[in-house]
Parts: sequence; C-alpha cells; structure tokens
Amino acid sequence: MNTTIVKTNDGSDTILNKDINECYHSKHGAIVEAKHIFIKNGLLNLKKNKTKILEVGFGSGLNTLLTLIKAKKNNIKIIYDTIEPFPLNKEIYEQLNYYKILDTSRDLFLKIHNCLWEKRIKINDFFFIKKQKTSLSNFNSNIKYDIIYFDAFSPRKQPEMWSESILTKTYNLLNKNGYLITYCSKGSFKRILNKIGYDIEIINGPIGKREITRASRK
Ligand SMILES: C[S@@+](CC[C@H](N)C(=O)[O-])C[C@H]1O[C@@H](n2cnc3c(N)ncnc32)[C@H](O)[C@@H]1O
Repeated sequence: MNTTIVKTNDGSDTILNKDINECYHSKHGAIVEAKHIFIKNGLLNLKKNKTKILEVGFGSGLNTLLTLIKAKKNNIKIIYDTIEPFPLNKEIYEQLNYYKILDTSRDLFLKIHNCLWEKRIKINDFFFIKKQKTSLSNFNSNIKYDIIYFDAFSPRKQPEMWSESILTKTYNLLNKNGYLITYCSKGSFKRILNKIGYDIEIINGPIGKREITRASRK
C-alpha cells in the first residue's frame, strides 16, 4: 500500500492512500472530525457504562485512541473490536502526531498499534481491544455490538463497502437498539439503509460536512 502522511487543518495528521488518492480523514481536521462523528454522536450518544463497539477500518488508530481516552475519563467499560485488511506500516504510524495533540502518551498510542492481532488485549480496566486483520465481508463474530463505527473509504472509492449485502451484514452484527454511525449521508446509502430496516437519523456534520448519518436497528 502506497501511503504518506498529510497535515489537516486542526494540525492533526491524516494518511493519504496514494493508490486510490483518498485520505483517511477530512482535510478540515482529522481529530475534530473523528471526535464529532464517532465520540460525540457515537460513543456518548449511547449513555451506557458498558458497551461493545465494532470499528470498520482501524487505519491510523485515531478512533481507537479517542475512544480509549473517553472510556477512562467517563468510566465506560468497552469491548472494542476493530478490523483492518491493510494495516499501516510501522514507519507510518510511529510518526502520527495524535498523542501530542490529545496530550496523552506516545506509549499508549503505540500500545494500540503494536498489540497482537486476533487476540483480546486489556489496555486498561476500561478498554479491551481485539484487532482483526480481515475485511468486513470475511469477518465473523459471536458478539453483537451496541455501536458500529463505519469508517470505510467513500462510496466513490470503495462502492462495495456501501452495498446492500455489506450493510445487511452490519445490521445483523448489531444488538437491538444498537446503531451504526458514519460520516456518509449520500442519498443512495440512506435508501439502502431504509430498505434493510434501519431507522435513520440525520445529524449535523463536523466542519466542512453538512450532515452525517446514524442508523439504528430497532
Ligand atoms: C477512511 S479510512 C479510516 C481509517 C480509520 N478509522 C482511521 O481513523 O484512521 C478507511 C479504512 O478502512 C480500511 N478498509 C479497506 N477495506 C476494508 C474492508 N473491506 N473492511 C474493513 N476495512 C477496510 C482501509 O484500509 C482504511 O484503513
């Protein structure tokens, strides 16, 4: 995979995947975007002190780090599963500046990246991670999730991730009242969610994005 680090407008890094010419985050601010979508409107919307999360696309580890920080701060115990078929090279993730901006330790950030794949790892009393090197289509789980962080590449660059069969899979991975949260609010995507039986909420987006989507299994 051909990748390079790019700076976004809030000073935080993102990764540019040169093969498809798409960044992992918004150019308006990787941290600002991830906090707004996945923390404020994902994790904190649930209002539970125990939760199971599936992240689709581990990538830079930013969503994982933000969730881990919030879990400890708000006393939320989290089982965190994250999948990634194309893990970043060490030379790339070791340069990412998230821990500096978030005022946390580099060791903690690297612990997330360096911990074993395919194994449940305790990071602290609040955060239990399992990273799996697989694609969503090949992923199987005997756990059902309260939240899915759906952070795939855009429908334009990776249309198969936004197909009815993949989104039906996400629906079946959720608990009743569980939800998927994502940056995408494209009409065709919402029509597929509707067809599958998801309840859709349209939420204000972060800077540079009008709307995002939260879709619940009822
Ligand atoms: C928009 S990036 C977001 C990554 C990550 N959440 C972050 O904050 O850095 C999309 C991620 O999905 C991963 N991905 C690509 N195909 C996938 C698949 N079939 N299943 C799961 N993840 C996939 C990519 O490699 C990439 O890391």
